[in-house]
Amino acid sequence: MVKKGTDKRRYDRVAGVYDIFELPMELMAFSKWRSELFRYVESGKILEVGIGTGKNILYYSNWDVAGLDISHKMLKKAVKRAFDLNKKIDFVQGDAEYLPFRDESFDGVISTYVFCSVENPENGLKELYRVLKTGGRAYFLEHVRSENEIVGKLMDAVNPAIRVIGPEINRKTVENIKNAGFIIVRDVKLMLSVFRLVIAEKAFNQAVSDIQGHH
Ligand SMILES: C[S@@+](CC[C@H](N)C(=O)[O-])C[C@H]1O[C@@H](n2cnc3c(N)ncnc32)[C@H](O)[C@@H]1O
Repeated sequence: MVKKGTDKRRYDRVAGVYDIFELPMELMAFSKWRSELFRYVESGKILEVGIGTGKNILYYSNWDVAGLDISHKMLKKAVKRAFDLNKKIDFVQGDAEYLPFRDESFDGVISTYVFCSVENPENGLKELYRVLKTGGRAYFLEHVRSENEIVGKLMDAVNPAIRVIGPEINRKTVENIKNAGFIIVRDVKLMLSVFRLVIAEKAFNQAVSDIQGHH
């Protein structure tokens, strides 16, 4: 189900210039972090949510990938990129908050710079948890509210203006990931903790979460 919400409109509107707009950040840090994240991804059936213009396709191995996005204009760019890179991907237009997949259907899920946009991130993260197989991992690169209080307050102040054109920059996404039921297995703080590389698991049983709790 595709919600006729603001995220879809927002990203349909910027799709044409998105890659150019993001290029400085991509060159400065994003690409490096993407390749770092993809070193951890284990093979299998993978879902990438908020695939956008498909910047991660470059890093895919021979996995069975479904790529979902709410914006058909962003997806169109991803389709072209997959074609250019000769990668076969099942593209789906859909909402991360209402994933059109059965429970436990993926070995891994990927999200890069998405949960700053999804309107109700908790709902989307619970959906990722639902469609992930038990024992599977979710791989995130997200920008979040900095743990540095000065930077955090600054982010709170500029957030409303930034939200007009794009993401919400002061979310507590790592907490949201935990609240969705995941166990955090890796949490790397990047650039004054404004960005996070997070690997989270849908744990086999409570024993695993108990062990985690003792670390
Ligand atoms: C900042 S872009 C990041 C795109 C891509 N993941 C990347 O790393 O370049 C955020 C993407 O999330 C998508 N998005 C936002 N809300 C969504 C939702 N509720 N469901 C699915 N995709 C969504 C947007 O359309 C956009 O393509």
